[in-house]
Amino acid sequence: MSPIEEVIISKKSNINPIWIMRQAGRYLPEFRDIRKKNPDFIKLCLNKKLSSEITLQPIKRFDFDAAIIFSDILMLPYGLDQSVEFKKNLGPILGNLELEKILRIEETDFVEKLSPVYESIELVRNSQLTKNKATIGFVGAPWTLLVYMINKKSPKLSLNSNFFENKYLIDKVLKILDKFLKIHIKNQINSGAQIIQIFDSWAGLLKEKDLSYYVYDPTLSLVNYIKTLRIPVICFPRGIRNYKNYCETIKPDTICIDYEVDPVKISKEIKIPVQGGMDPKVLLSSKENIKKQTMKYLDIFKDHPYIFNLGHGVLPETDLNMMDYLVKTVKDY
Ligand code: CP3
Repeated sequence: MSPIEEVIISKKSNINPIWIMRQAGRYLPEFRDIRKKNPDFIKLCLNKKLSSEITLQPIKRFDFDAAIIFSDILMLPYGLDQSVEFKKNLGPILGNLELEKILRIEETDFVEKLSPVYESIELVRNSQLTKNKATIGFVGAPWTLLVYMINKKSPKLSLNSNFFENKYLIDKVLKILDKFLKIHIKNQINSGAQIIQIFDSWAGLLKEKDLSYYVYDPTLSLVNYIKTLRIPVICFPRGIRNYKNYCETIKPDTICIDYEVDPVKISKEIKIPVQGGMDPKVLLSSKENIKKQTMKYLDIFKDHPYIFNLGHGVLPETDLNMMDYLVKTVKDY
């Protein structure tokens, strides 16, 4: 069993494995080199040779304990024939959501479209570099995908005021997402993913009263499905205010926390293994501060099953020496 699985499954608290969200990304010069030659991001995700190579880049450089597949949560709307484009400095831009078209998508067409993602997972899992490491597959949570599919761009701080207007559309899209997310999860697991992480990056946009319908019910459906496949699931409901309530409702195998929550409160309130928390901006400061902040998290979770990670993705401007220093600090603890 890999160290990350020992924390999640065996609840070990005397080891602190580390991986980093967005570890395969723009802070790596070797990623930027490949990216420069591949301006179409979706095509790059669908190039199994390059996407598996990118997945392994941070493993080679930092010896992280997990490989997270280089892909994107927006490959799902792409698989459903909604166009997705990544424009420089704008983030993702999606095409119109055509319900009639999406309702006609067949499982076989969807799987065929995304098959390079699954083949890439196989390549990563079979690589010597991931021998004692966890291979992590992932999906966006239904709510976060709904946000991108209807808003057609990042909601940044708020949603369009008419976002919730078409309840019929929302209900249909959530049902379609439930079906195809399960298909996407199953195929990742069959290709070698040993853990699934569910990213709910926009959970924090909702009012408490709307959480059941948009976050709890649809996420619980996925989590229960993943449990039937006997694979651990990590949930990351970024910005949610009540992590305790979330954990009691969803019962994930591990909870990934964002950088705005108080880790001391989490360590007292939550019994399941915890992942993440430290602000990615800490890596833009000094070695002294990195050490201080990293030790803070490791000390707080000293007697708790804990996987070191950040409280959101690593920032593109992060210095490699600082990442090196972080990994060393965690491994020497
Ligand atoms: O973590 C990893 O290293 C694995 C790959 C991965 C990517 N995206 C690659 C990527 C994962 C797990 C994601 C998840 C993802 N994608 C989320 C959830 C996590 C989060 O950040 O909140 C979301 C919301 C997306 C959607 C998305 N993809 C956005 C908003 C953007 C543009 C803004 C940005 O941060 O770059 C992307 C592009 C993207 N996905 C890049 C990478 C490496 C950058 C592509 C580039 O321009 O080179």
